[in-house]
Amino acid sequence: MAASTLVPLCPAADINPGTARMVTVGDLNLAVFNVGGQFFVTQNACTHGPGSLADGFMEGDQVECDFHGGRFHIPSGKPSAPPCTEGLQTWDVQLVDGQICIDPAAPRPVQNA
Ligand code: FES
Repeated sequence: MAASTLVPLCPAADINPGTARMVTVGDLNLAVFNVGGQFFVTQNACTHGPGSLADGFMEGDQVECDFHGGRFHIPSGKPSAPPCTEGLQTWDVQLVDGQICIDPAAPRPVQNA
C-alpha cells in the first residue's frame, strides 16, 4: 500500500465556524467546511447539477445546495434531502501546522441516500 501523501489546502484560521471555502488541488474542486470548529472536506460540485456546495447554505452539519435545495450531511457526504440521491466524495482531514490537509488520492467510500 502506498504511503499517504498529505496536501495542504488552506490555513484552518481562514475558515470561520459555519462557513466554507472552495479549494482547487490538481483536478479536484473541493469544499472545505468548518462545522463548529471541526473541518470537513467534500467535493465542491453538487451531485445533482451545477451547484457549488462551498456557496451553499450551511445549517449545523448540513449544507443546502443553492440551485434546487438539495442537502447533504457534511461529515459523511450522504444526501439528506431531495433531489440529491448520490453521495459526495469526502476525505479524511488532518491538521498539520495549522493547515487543513487531505490525501487527494484516498477519498472515503461514497454514501448514497
Ligand atoms: Fe444541487 Fe440541483 S444542483 S440540488
